[in-house]
Amino acid sequence: MKQNSWILIPVLALAAIGATFKLSQAQSAAQPTLAVAVPKTEAAVPAPSAQPAQAEAAPAMQAPAAEPVAAGQKRLSYNSCNVDGPYIALTFDDGPHATLTPKLLDILKERGVKATFFVLGQCVAANPDVLRRAVAEGHEIGNHSYDHKALPKLGAAGVASEMNQTDDAVVQAGGKKPVVMRPPYGATNAAITKRLNDEFGFKVVMWDVDPLDWKVRNAAHVTSEILKNTKPGSIVLAHDIHPSTVAAMPETIDALQKKGFKFVTVSELVAMDRPLPAATPQPAASPKPVTKKAKRH
Ligand code: NI
Repeated sequence: MKQNSWILIPVLALAAIGATFKLSQAQSAAQPTLAVAVPKTEAAVPAPSAQPAQAEAAPAMQAPAAEPVAAGQKRLSYNSCNVDGPYIALTFDDGPHATLTPKLLDILKERGVKATFFVLGQCVAANPDVLRRAVAEGHEIGNHSYDHKALPKLGAAGVASEMNQTDDAVVQAGGKKPVVMRPPYGATNAAITKRLNDEFGFKVVMWDVDPLDWKVRNAAHVTSEILKNTKPGSIVLAHDIHPSTVAAMPETIDALQKKGFKFVTVSELVAMDRPLPAATPQPAASPKPVTKKAKRH
Protein backbone atom coordinates (compact mmCIF):
# COMPACT_ATOMS: atom_id res chain seq x y z
CA MET A 1 0.00 0.00 0.00
CA LYS A 2 2.67 2.43 1.03
CA GLN A 3 4.73 1.82 -2.08
CA ASN A 4 1.74 2.27 -4.33
CA SER A 5 1.14 5.68 -2.90
CA TRP A 6 4.51 6.89 -4.23
CA ILE A 7 3.32 6.03 -7.69
CA LEU A 8 -0.06 7.53 -7.05
CA ILE A 9 1.22 10.95 -5.99
CA PRO A 10 2.67 11.96 -9.38
CA VAL A 11 -0.38 10.50 -11.12
CA LEU A 12 -2.75 12.50 -8.93
CA ALA A 13 -0.65 15.63 -9.34
CA LEU A 14 -0.83 15.28 -13.10
CA ALA A 15 -4.58 14.71 -12.92
CA ALA A 16 -4.97 17.81 -10.77
CA ILE A 17 -2.96 19.92 -13.21
CA GLY A 18 -5.09 18.60 -16.05
CA ALA A 19 -8.32 19.36 -14.21
CA THR A 20 -7.17 22.88 -13.37
CA PHE A 21 -6.27 23.50 -16.98
CA LYS A 22 -9.65 22.25 -18.16
CA LEU A 23 -11.42 24.36 -15.56
CA SER A 24 -9.60 27.52 -16.57
CA GLN A 25 -10.42 26.78 -20.18
CA ALA A 26 -14.06 26.29 -19.31
CA GLN A 27 -14.10 29.49 -17.26
CA SER A 28 -12.61 31.59 -20.00
CA ALA A 29 -15.02 30.05 -22.51
CA ALA A 30 -17.93 30.87 -20.22
CA GLN A 31 -16.76 34.40 -19.56
CA PRO A 32 -18.52 36.19 -22.43
CA THR A 33 -21.94 34.82 -21.49
CA LEU A 34 -21.45 35.48 -17.80
CA ALA A 35 -20.48 39.06 -18.50
CA VAL A 36 -23.94 39.77 -19.88
CA ALA A 37 -25.63 39.12 -16.62
CA VAL A 38 -29.06 40.24 -17.35
CA PRO A 39 -32.14 39.90 -19.33
CA LYS A 40 -31.48 38.74 -22.81
CA THR A 41 -34.70 40.01 -24.23
CA GLU A 42 -37.96 41.11 -22.99
CA ALA A 43 -39.49 40.81 -26.36
CA ALA A 44 -42.45 42.69 -27.50
CA VAL A 45 -45.22 40.45 -28.60
CA PRO A 46 -48.01 40.93 -31.02
CA ALA A 47 -50.62 42.51 -28.82
CA PRO A 48 -53.89 40.70 -28.20
CA SER A 49 -56.70 42.35 -30.11
CA ALA A 50 -58.00 44.09 -27.00
CA GLN A 51 -54.64 45.76 -26.49
CA PRO A 52 -53.29 48.75 -28.31
CA ALA A 53 -50.63 47.74 -30.78
CA GLN A 54 -47.09 47.33 -29.54
CA ALA A 55 -43.85 47.23 -31.41
CA GLU A 56 -43.30 43.74 -32.75
CA ALA A 57 -39.58 43.41 -33.24
CA ALA A 58 -37.38 43.35 -30.21
CA PRO A 59 -34.38 45.59 -30.74
CA ALA A 60 -31.00 44.21 -29.80
CA MET A 61 -30.75 43.91 -26.07
CA GLN A 62 -28.49 46.40 -24.42
CA ALA A 63 -26.49 45.57 -21.38
CA PRO A 64 -28.08 47.28 -18.41
CA ALA A 65 -26.32 50.18 -16.83
CA ALA A 66 -23.67 49.22 -14.36
CA GLU A 67 -24.90 49.38 -10.83
CA PRO A 68 -22.91 51.24 -8.25
CA VAL A 69 -21.61 48.83 -5.69
CA ALA A 70 -19.76 50.89 -3.12
CA ALA A 71 -21.38 51.04 0.27
CA GLY A 72 -23.42 54.17 0.76
CA GLN A 73 -23.54 54.87 -2.96
CA LYS A 74 -26.99 55.29 -4.44
CA ARG A 75 -28.08 52.36 -6.56
CA LEU A 76 -29.73 53.41 -9.79
CA SER A 77 -30.97 50.07 -11.10
CA TYR A 78 -31.84 46.66 -9.74
CA ASN A 79 -31.80 43.14 -11.14
CA SER A 80 -32.40 41.65 -7.72
CA CYS A 81 -31.99 42.79 -4.15
CA ASN A 82 -29.78 41.64 -1.33
CA VAL A 83 -32.32 41.03 1.42
CA ASP A 84 -32.36 39.51 4.84
CA GLY A 85 -35.25 37.11 4.45
CA PRO A 86 -37.23 35.11 1.88
CA TYR A 87 -38.65 38.17 0.13
CA ILE A 88 -39.30 38.31 -3.61
CA ALA A 89 -41.18 40.55 -6.03
CA LEU A 90 -43.46 39.29 -8.77
CA THR A 91 -43.69 41.75 -11.65
CA PHE A 92 -46.08 41.76 -14.60
CA ASP A 93 -45.38 43.82 -17.71
CA ASP A 94 -47.18 45.23 -20.72
CA GLY A 95 -50.72 45.50 -19.30
CA PRO A 96 -53.18 46.21 -17.94
CA HIS A 97 -55.16 43.79 -20.08
CA ALA A 98 -58.95 44.03 -20.16
CA THR A 99 -59.66 40.41 -19.18
CA LEU A 100 -56.40 38.71 -18.20
CA THR A 101 -55.28 41.27 -15.62
CA PRO A 102 -58.58 40.99 -13.69
CA LYS A 103 -58.15 37.19 -13.72
CA LEU A 104 -54.65 37.60 -12.33
CA LEU A 105 -55.90 40.05 -9.71
CA ASP A 106 -58.39 37.39 -8.54
CA ILE A 107 -55.56 34.85 -8.21
CA LEU A 108 -53.37 37.29 -6.27
CA LYS A 109 -56.23 38.33 -4.01
CA GLU A 110 -57.13 34.74 -3.11
CA ARG A 111 -53.55 34.19 -1.99
CA GLY A 112 -52.94 37.52 -0.29
CA VAL A 113 -50.11 38.31 -2.69
CA LYS A 114 -48.99 41.84 -3.62
CA ALA A 115 -47.32 42.28 -7.00
CA THR A 116 -45.99 45.06 -9.19
CA PHE A 117 -47.45 45.93 -12.59
CA PHE A 118 -45.15 47.68 -15.07
CA VAL A 119 -47.85 49.18 -17.22
CA LEU A 120 -47.91 50.71 -20.67
CA GLY A 121 -49.53 54.13 -20.68
CA GLN A 122 -51.63 53.26 -23.72
CA CYS A 123 -53.03 50.16 -21.96
CA VAL A 124 -53.82 52.20 -18.86
CA ALA A 125 -55.72 54.67 -21.04
CA ALA A 126 -57.63 51.75 -22.60
CA ASN A 127 -58.31 49.94 -19.28
CA PRO A 128 -58.34 52.55 -16.50
CA ASP A 129 -60.80 50.53 -14.40
CA VAL A 130 -58.41 47.58 -14.29
CA LEU A 131 -55.59 49.83 -13.13
CA ARG A 132 -57.84 51.33 -10.47
CA ARG A 133 -58.65 47.86 -9.17
CA ALA A 134 -54.95 46.89 -9.02
CA VAL A 135 -54.22 50.06 -7.03
CA ALA A 136 -57.19 49.51 -4.71
CA GLU A 137 -55.98 45.98 -3.97
CA GLY A 138 -52.56 47.16 -2.86
CA HIS A 139 -50.40 46.39 -5.87
CA GLU A 140 -47.65 48.70 -7.02
CA ILE A 141 -47.78 50.38 -10.41
CA GLY A 142 -44.55 50.97 -12.32
CA ASN A 143 -43.94 52.86 -15.56
CA HIS A 144 -43.08 50.71 -18.62
CA SER A 145 -43.33 53.55 -21.19
CA TYR A 146 -46.36 54.60 -23.18
CA ASP A 147 -46.10 52.34 -26.21
CA HIS A 148 -43.12 50.07 -25.60
CA LYS A 149 -40.46 51.89 -27.57
CA ALA A 150 -36.80 51.15 -26.92
CA LEU A 151 -35.63 54.21 -24.99
CA PRO A 152 -32.05 54.33 -26.37
CA LYS A 153 -33.54 54.88 -29.81
CA LEU A 154 -35.38 57.99 -28.66
CA GLY A 155 -33.98 61.43 -28.06
CA ALA A 156 -34.24 63.20 -24.71
CA ALA A 157 -37.66 64.60 -25.59
CA GLY A 158 -38.90 61.19 -26.71
CA VAL A 159 -37.88 59.54 -23.43
CA ALA A 160 -39.53 62.35 -21.49
CA SER A 161 -42.74 61.98 -23.47
CA GLU A 162 -42.85 58.19 -22.91
CA MET A 163 -42.37 58.62 -19.17
CA ASN A 164 -44.64 61.62 -18.66
CA GLN A 165 -47.53 60.33 -20.76
CA THR A 166 -47.51 57.08 -18.81
CA ASP A 167 -47.27 58.78 -15.41
CA ASP A 168 -50.18 61.00 -16.45
CA ALA A 169 -52.29 58.03 -17.58
CA VAL A 170 -51.65 56.25 -14.25
CA VAL A 171 -52.54 59.34 -12.21
CA GLN A 172 -55.61 60.01 -14.33
CA ALA A 173 -56.80 56.45 -13.77
CA GLY A 174 -56.52 56.93 -10.02
CA GLY A 175 -53.00 55.74 -9.23
CA LYS A 176 -50.04 57.55 -7.71
CA LYS A 177 -47.11 58.73 -9.78
CA PRO A 178 -44.94 55.62 -10.21
CA VAL A 179 -41.54 55.61 -8.49
CA VAL A 180 -40.20 52.55 -10.29
CA MET A 181 -39.86 51.98 -14.01
CA ARG A 182 -38.76 49.17 -16.29
CA PRO A 183 -37.39 50.04 -19.73
CA PRO A 184 -39.09 48.22 -22.61
CA TYR A 185 -36.89 45.24 -23.61
CA GLY A 186 -34.73 46.08 -20.60
CA ALA A 187 -32.98 48.44 -23.02
CA THR A 188 -31.21 51.36 -21.42
CA ASN A 189 -27.75 52.85 -21.02
CA ALA A 190 -25.87 54.61 -18.25
CA ALA A 191 -26.97 58.10 -19.32
CA ILE A 192 -30.64 57.16 -19.64
CA THR A 193 -30.63 55.24 -16.36
CA LYS A 194 -29.11 58.22 -14.57
CA ARG A 195 -31.63 60.57 -16.13
CA LEU A 196 -34.54 58.29 -15.22
CA ASN A 197 -33.37 58.50 -11.61
CA ASP A 198 -32.41 62.17 -11.43
CA GLU A 199 -35.02 63.79 -13.63
CA PHE A 200 -38.00 61.48 -13.30
CA GLY A 201 -37.49 60.11 -9.80
CA PHE A 202 -37.51 56.45 -10.87
CA LYS A 203 -35.59 53.46 -9.66
CA VAL A 204 -34.84 51.41 -12.78
CA VAL A 205 -36.01 47.85 -12.20
CA MET A 206 -34.82 44.93 -14.30
CA TRP A 207 -35.16 41.29 -13.23
CA ASP A 208 -33.14 38.21 -12.40
CA VAL A 209 -35.77 35.55 -13.10
CA ASP A 210 -37.10 35.34 -16.65
CA PRO A 211 -39.34 32.38 -17.53
CA LEU A 212 -39.48 33.61 -21.17
CA ASP A 213 -43.26 33.48 -20.88
CA TRP A 214 -43.66 35.71 -23.94
CA LYS A 215 -41.87 33.11 -26.01
CA VAL A 216 -42.85 29.76 -24.52
CA ARG A 217 -46.60 29.99 -24.09
CA ASN A 218 -46.88 27.04 -21.77
CA ALA A 219 -48.02 27.36 -18.16
CA ALA A 220 -46.03 24.36 -16.89
CA HIS A 221 -42.86 25.81 -18.39
CA VAL A 222 -43.48 29.20 -16.80
CA THR A 223 -44.03 27.56 -13.41
CA SER A 224 -40.97 25.33 -13.56
CA GLU A 225 -38.64 28.12 -14.73
CA ILE A 226 -39.77 30.45 -11.96
CA LEU A 227 -39.49 27.76 -9.29
CA LYS A 228 -36.06 26.73 -10.51
CA ASN A 229 -34.54 30.22 -10.50
CA THR A 230 -36.20 32.23 -7.75
CA LYS A 231 -34.14 32.97 -4.65
CA PRO A 232 -34.44 35.47 -1.82
CA GLY A 233 -34.34 38.99 -3.26
CA SER A 234 -35.40 37.88 -6.75
CA ILE A 235 -37.35 40.07 -9.12
CA VAL A 236 -39.48 37.79 -11.31
CA LEU A 237 -40.44 38.97 -14.79
CA ALA A 238 -43.75 37.88 -16.32
CA HIS A 239 -46.40 39.35 -18.59
CA ASP A 240 -50.09 39.62 -17.71
CA ILE A 241 -51.08 39.72 -21.37
CA HIS A 242 -50.64 35.99 -22.05
CA PRO A 243 -53.27 33.42 -20.99
CA SER A 244 -50.53 30.84 -20.34
CA THR A 245 -48.75 33.17 -17.90
CA VAL A 246 -51.91 33.90 -15.94
CA ALA A 247 -52.80 30.18 -15.98
CA ALA A 248 -49.37 29.41 -14.51
CA MET A 249 -49.77 31.70 -11.52
CA PRO A 250 -51.93 29.68 -9.10
CA GLU A 251 -49.51 26.75 -9.10
CA THR A 252 -46.44 28.98 -9.22
CA ILE A 253 -47.52 31.14 -6.30
CA ASP A 254 -48.71 28.17 -4.24
CA ALA A 255 -45.37 26.40 -4.74
CA LEU A 256 -43.35 29.53 -3.94
CA GLN A 257 -45.39 30.06 -0.78
CA LYS A 258 -44.82 26.43 0.17
CA LYS A 259 -41.08 27.03 -0.19
CA GLY A 260 -41.44 29.88 2.29
CA PHE A 261 -41.13 32.85 -0.07
CA LYS A 262 -42.91 36.06 0.90
CA PHE A 263 -44.22 38.41 -1.76
CA VAL A 264 -43.62 42.15 -1.59
CA THR A 265 -43.83 44.97 -4.11
CA VAL A 266 -40.69 46.07 -5.93
CA SER A 267 -40.46 49.26 -3.88
CA GLU A 268 -40.71 47.24 -0.68
CA LEU A 269 -37.98 44.89 -1.91
CA VAL A 270 -35.75 47.81 -2.92
CA ALA A 271 -36.25 49.36 0.51
CA MET A 272 -34.88 46.15 2.07
CA ASP A 273 -31.80 46.09 -0.18
CA ARG A 274 -28.49 46.15 1.69
CA PRO A 275 -25.03 46.79 0.29
CA LEU A 276 -23.35 43.54 -0.67
CA PRO A 277 -20.82 42.33 1.89
CA ALA A 278 -18.17 41.93 -0.82
CA ALA A 279 -18.62 45.52 -1.92
CA THR A 280 -18.41 46.92 1.58
CA PRO A 281 -14.96 48.19 2.53
CA GLN A 282 -13.87 46.07 5.46
CA PRO A 283 -12.58 47.85 8.53
CA ALA A 284 -8.88 47.12 9.12
CA ALA A 285 -9.59 45.42 12.42
CA SER A 286 -12.25 43.18 10.93
CA PRO A 287 -12.04 40.04 13.04
CA LYS A 288 -12.76 37.57 10.27
CA PRO A 289 -12.93 37.58 6.52
CA VAL A 290 -16.28 37.85 4.80
CA THR A 291 -17.17 34.35 3.73
CA LYS A 292 -20.61 34.97 2.31
CA LYS A 293 -20.53 34.64 -1.45
CA ALA A 294 -21.32 37.86 -3.25
CA LYS A 295 -24.46 37.73 -5.29
CA ARG A 296 -24.25 38.60 -8.93
CA HIS A 297 -26.12 41.70 -9.99
NI1 NI B 1 -42.48 44.94 -22.03
